[in-house]
Amino acid sequence: MLSQEQNDLLTRVGPGTPGGEMLRRYWLPIALVQELPPQEGGDPPAPVPLRILGEDLVLFRDQQGRPGLIGIHCAHRGADLSYGRVEDGGLRCLYHGWLYDVHGRCLEQPGEPAGSTFYERVRQPSYACREAAGVFFACFGPGEPPLLPDYELFHVPDEHRWIHKYYHECSYLQGNEGNLDPTHPFFLHRFLSGSRSLQSRVPINDQRRTPAYDTRVHAPRVHAEEMPFGVRMYAFYDTSPEWTDVRTSCFVMPLTCAVGGGPVPPGDGYLMNWHVPIDDTHHWRFSMAFKRTGPIDRAHARERASITTADYRFPRNPNNRYLQDREEQKTDTFSGMGPIFVVHDSYATETAGPIQDRTREHLGAVDRGVSLERRMLLHAIRDVQEGRDPPHVMRRPEDNVQLEGLGVTEHRIPAGLTWPQYRREWAGDLAAR
Ligand code: FES
Ligand SMILES: [Fe+2]
Repeated sequence: MLSQEQNDLLTRVGPGTPGGEMLRRYWLPIALVQELPPQEGGDPPAPVPLRILGEDLVLFRDQQGRPGLIGIHCAHRGADLSYGRVEDGGLRCLYHGWLYDVHGRCLEQPGEPAGSTFYERVRQPSYACREAAGVFFACFGPGEPPLLPDYELFHVPDEHRWIHKYYHECSYLQGNEGNLDPTHPFFLHRFLSGSRSLQSRVPINDQRRTPAYDTRVHAPRVHAEEMPFGVRMYAFYDTSPEWTDVRTSCFVMPLTCAVGGGPVPPGDGYLMNWHVPIDDTHHWRFSMAFKRTGPIDRAHARERASITTADYRFPRNPNNRYLQDREEQKTDTFSGMGPIFVVHDSYATETAGPIQDRTREHLGAVDRGVSLERRMLLHAIRDVQEGRDPPHVMRRPEDNVQLEGLGVTEHRIPAGLTWPQYRREWAGDLAAR
């Protein structure tokens, strides 16, 4: 449970808000490269209007293919630059022809008197922007941006990666916190016995990861520890008298989770979900999965991408009550909302309200990861208020070398091992400690 003040600190993201200023210290995904593909000899792609952290922006490539992220409203009289023309080394406003480069510098002001230097004093807001792993990342902070964290998924070939984004009608924080508990899959995402036909028709919801385990009967043991990058969570499922299944997952500052799943077999990579605010009450989930040992199955990847419309929305959404089917709920799925996990997650996070009222919640033992995540975020806000870099903002290359294997693993261990024993004896492959 949080105070209203704490909840506001964590969920208000606009310019000048304490939480927004903290989020602006990090590199955040803002768009997929496929939305603004590099031109190969032809015309530059159409500029893309974006809203991120409550700011209206336009992402474009100049004729050299360089990406630029600048304010969408022209510094002259506010027309929308995303309708503009890419030409003459920048983006030209349709209204009176002012021209801006990828850094927001005004290059031309047709209509001003010959010899005028007014253009030198006009600047469009602009932000650092770069491409990595098929995604545009931007940093909205002041000064020199930090290093882009060196995640393992940046190091695999393109065919080993799968990337998509999804629109969510709620605060980024509750979207992210949806990744942070180890019990909801056994309810929310469960297929009912007798629903094998449904499962076999929908291979993207692989059941390999759900052990014969029922959280209505057994409580998982949950531990969370603070790491330099965020929080590592350990869930112990005492599956049989002989063994325990352990899964680890991570919260990565300030709005990402690394979890098992996605189109990747257990242990051969993992999924990172970035929940990036559009504004206080909407966000994009950027999902990026990678497989260490080989290419991701393309048919599988296409099928996962096809669950959204072309503009990355869900056909099942709050406006149609997620098309919940009470008959399906009797026979096939626990939720009655079809077989797609991210749709279930949308329901769970969006229906808590545009911004969940955390003054009225009651966190339990399974929510240790959530509690620690919030503590770290509140500390990070204070760091920024007091002029320090928050955790996981890295500026020295030597600090940015240990992010391979954030520590998303699965182990089957002998029953009865304690968490400290597990960490000592089994967790040797958890990097970034
Ligand atoms: S409003 Fe853009 S050039 Fe005048
Ligand atoms: Fe989920």
